[in-house]
Order: sequence, then C-alpha cells, then structure tokens
Amino acid sequence: MSDILVHTEDGIATLTFNRPDKKNSITSAMYAALADALEAAQADDAVRCVVFQGNETVFSAGNDIGDFLNQPPATGDSPVYRFMRALSGFPKPVLAAVCGPAVGIGTTLLLHCDLVYAGDNAAFSMPFVNLGLCPEFSSSLLVPQLMGYHRAAEALLLGEPFMAEAALEVGLVNRVLPPTETAGYAQTVARRLAAKPLSALVETKRLMKQGQADKVATVMAEEGESFGRMLREPAAREAFGAFMERRKPDFSKV
Ligand code: COA
Repeated sequence: MSDILVHTEDGIATLTFNRPDKKNSITSAMYAALADALEAAQADDAVRCVVFQGNETVFSAGNDIGDFLNQPPATGDSPVYRFMRALSGFPKPVLAAVCGPAVGIGTTLLLHCDLVYAGDNAAFSMPFVNLGLCPEFSSSLLVPQLMGYHRAAEALLLGEPFMAEAALEVGLVNRVLPPTETAGYAQTVARRLAAKPLSALVETKRLMKQGQADKVATVMAEEGESFGRMLREPAAREAFGAFMERRKPDFSKV
C-alpha cells in the first residue's frame, strides 16, 4: 500500500497521507508522489478541486526526520520544493481535512489551501526553531499576515502547538468538527465546489492570490536557502539526533 493514496472521483482528487505507523511523516518519495498528483490534477480538466487528508488521529508529523538526517534536500529540484511549488501555484481550489497533529509542513501546507476543516483534536505546530531550523513554505510571510506579528512570534519562535479552536480564531481553519465528521464534511464542500464552473473558480482564486504571488515565491526561495543550509548545521544535527535517540536535545554548545 502506497504512503500517499490518490483517489479521483466526481471531479475531486483526494490525496491521503497513509503512513500511520510513522504519524504520516513525509519522506522525499512521498513529496514526489504529491507533486506528481498535483501536476496531474492541474492538467486534468475533469479534476475541479483537490482535498488533502490524513486519518482521524493524525494529519502529518511533518518532514520525516530520518530523511532530514540522511538525505536533506540539496537543490530546488528536490521533491519537497517541487511539491511546494506545485501546491502554492495550484490554480484550482484546494481543501484540507485535518485531525490530530499537523506538524511543520503539516501546518504550513495549509497556508496554501483555500478551505481547511479541522477535527476538534487537531493540534497545529511549526517547531522549526526547536529543530535548529527556520520557517519554510513562505510561512515567515504568511503566518504573521494571518495571525498578526505577536501571535506569529509565539507560533514560530516558541514553536508550541495550538489547538483547533485557536486555529479557527486566527483564521487558519474554516470550521471545527468532530474528527469522525471532518473528512466527510470536506468531501461535501468539495462536491459543492466541483459543481461550480471551473473557469470562474480558477479566475477567482487567481485574482485573490495575484497580489502577492511573486512575493510568496521569492520568500519561499529565500527560506529554502536558509533552511537547506541550517539542515546541515550543528543545531539541527543535534535536534534530529535527539529525536532519533528519544532524548532531549542539548543546544548549550550551538
Ligand atoms: N519523522 C520520522 N519519524 C517520525 C516523525 C517524523 N517527523 N514523527 C513521528 N515519527 C515516528 C516516531 O519515530 C515513531 O516511530 P517508532 O514507532 O518506529 O519509534 C512513530 O512515528 C510514532 O511517533 P510517536 O512520537 O511515538 O507518536 P506520538 O503520538 O507520541 O507523537 C507527534 C506524535 C507527531 C507529536 C510526535 O511524533 C512528534 O512530535 N514528531 C516529530 C514532529 C516533528 O518535529 N516534525 C518535523 C517538523 S519540521
């Protein structure tokens, strides 16, 4: 069974994180599968919207930390960057159904979705600093815009999780539901979107996004440069090693 499931039906392409034993953490092979699926969905006129989902207990634990250690993304052509470009530039509506932890890119990818539905067990976090890293996916731009600077500083400097209701309050999610109803609700909304004229959806999304599409791309590239460098530096190596060895990291020397 694949770690990313792609199911297309009635104009809706549903992409499911399916690596529950590793809390749906994302390997470079999974990023490649997601980028392929988004590129195919963009090209297929029969696809009118895309839905991301995990399961009722976990959305995604973010980047696979073993991958960060063993094969950190080296170039802009790496699968993770392909995925980020495919999602941030995706012209049709994108929805997400999020239950349980959404860590790192599990949260930042939501900044590039149009409609987000959260289970009341959803826990969002961007613990980049705690891993010796910096924000990615244009989150250093989009999170302060969304939440205001001080709440963004709490989320990005402290890296502490915030729950579904707080995410609703800051506008990261559209609605909070029981976890058993979240995926079904997202599919219901996706069906409503799929019945609308695609040309009008695409033009409306383009107009809403065009004001800062270039800025988002520039910030993403700049973050990518810093992130790529920091992945190889002592703070991140200590944080990843500590995660793998299930101990507290010691940042006293970095
Ligand atoms: N990369 C690789 N493996 C991961 C992972 C990740 N990001 N997140 C979880 N896993 C693995 C664990 O190593 C464990 O594997 P094992 O059973 O072989 O030991 C398994 O998934 C279950 O994780 P566990 O931590 O026991 O689950 P939990 O329910 O106690 O906690 C999380 C869930 C998501 C809160 C916790 O796993 C976590 O914080 N993960 C790291 C998140 C992170 O820092 N991501 C990077 C962001 S840039």
